[in-house]
Amino acid sequence: MTIPRRGHPGRLAAAAGGLVAAALAVALAVPATAAGSTLQAAAAESGRYFGTAIAASRLNDGTYSSIANREFNMITAENEMKMDATEPQRGQFNFSSGDQIVSWARQNGKKVRGHALAWHSQQPGWMQNMSGSALRQAMLDHVTQVATHYRGQVYAWDVVNEAFADGSSGARRDSNLQRTGNDWIEAAFRAARAADPNAKLCYNDYNTDNWSHAKTQAVYSMVRDFKSRGVPIDCVGFQAHFNSGNPVPSNYHTTLQNFAALGVDVQITELDIEGSGTSQAQQYQGVVQACLSEARCTGITVWGVRDTDSWRASGTPLLFDGSGNKKAAYTSVLNALNAGGTSVTPGPTNPTPGPTNPTTNPTTPPPTTGGSCTATYSEGQKWGDRFNGTVTIRANGNISSWTSVVTVRSPQKVIATWNGSPSWDWSGNVMTVRPSGNGALASGQTTSFGFTVQHNGTWTWPSVTCVAS
Ligand code: G3I
Repeated sequence: MTIPRRGHPGRLAAAAGGLVAAALAVALAVPATAAGSTLQAAAAESGRYFGTAIAASRLNDGTYSSIANREFNMITAENEMKMDATEPQRGQFNFSSGDQIVSWARQNGKKVRGHALAWHSQQPGWMQNMSGSALRQAMLDHVTQVATHYRGQVYAWDVVNEAFADGSSGARRDSNLQRTGNDWIEAAFRAARAADPNAKLCYNDYNTDNWSHAKTQAVYSMVRDFKSRGVPIDCVGFQAHFNSGNPVPSNYHTTLQNFAALGVDVQITELDIEGSGTSQAQQYQGVVQACLSEARCTGITVWGVRDTDSWRASGTPLLFDGSGNKKAAYTSVLNALNAGGTSVTPGPTNPTPGPTNPTTNPTTPPPTTGGSCTATYSEGQKWGDRFNGTVTIRANGNISSWTSVVTVRSPQKVIATWNGSPSWDWSGNVMTVRPSGNGALASGQTTSFGFTVQHNGTWTWPSVTCVAS
């Protein structure tokens, strides 16, 4: 990919400032009492992950691997799971480097984002020379084989990467895969779902950060179409490669929120921002705040550990300098994570697609609800190893439904629930509870649900939030 270099640095501070203001408007905030001392701990306070791309060849570098282990809890293979790496000859798969990264991640208690099953770039030579139905079948075979190999070990897959053109056309990118037919993307998603039903399936792209850009709108339309037709898509990845010509847009939170409103998780998947000092730090802060302002933004991944590990090292775009020291950008990210935001409420791994209105104007955010709700926690019975809690939901104005997020402190675990329908994020510490026949409430009316927490030595009460719809 190429990153455009238009605009000038003066736009950067303004863009970051817009993001700061936007994030201040977040209605449902986690109290700013958390103080994680690493990126992963700070992100986990709101139920999110903080990840990095890893190169297998660098894992023997002690500085590199110790920073990676300390700071991050989601790992993406920078190149090792791509098509050229995993299927160098047709039908002959090589998972050695990818397995090395997965094994390191698992040994160190980290999750893995898979990157990437189908892409116009980094295809093996044999595939570059194929076309038509033979290429379509080869691509589907590849998706099936790779997703099957890693079944159960990958939190989310970038199923299709970078399939839209840059610029104002809003068109698909021309490629050998695109020329097999416009349905190649959904075919890849269906093959991935069949191979690994529990992985979240993402579409991943760059230059899709600015809500008003044609490429962003084109991807949005595709995702909306997929959701309306039941194509199995769970998430959208925003690569987020920024520089002075392509700064963090002031409407970033709008982009994330509008995609999330389609019923998908959103993730920042390859974050790096060229620059240095305060300007770079402010932009990183803005991206983190944008993610934290959206409850379905489930995590952030930076594209490498130290500046010298970056695919564009001369732009010093990462959070650690070449010696492994924390940069100003690191501190701003940590502080932004610790300042809190929405508690994450990811969708289910394999959602039943709900109908969406295909006539909705893609530039119009979905309608907001009238009433709001509050959630209040109250203590229940306590035993030596566990305690009960009750959450009371109160409607302020009429509401048709509600969603409550209960966050328990690790190593606590929720072991039972009642009068609500729960789902959990990947960490197991964030429980999203939806109504179980007790959704519609008139203004002032209350309902409640309960749960049992195995405390494992930690007696901190859970934090609870509520969103009405
Ligand atoms: O490993 C070989 C080495 O043996 C050889 O001597 C050397 C000479 O060219 O090449 C090395 O491979 C390089 C590889 O990175 C590992 O360093 C490839 O040439 C080079 O093309 C490859 O670049 C990667 C790039 O994707 C390829 O498109 C970058 O590391 C990687 O950071 C970058 O990642 C992409 C994402 O996948 C998608 N989004 C954009 C992002 C940045 O371009």
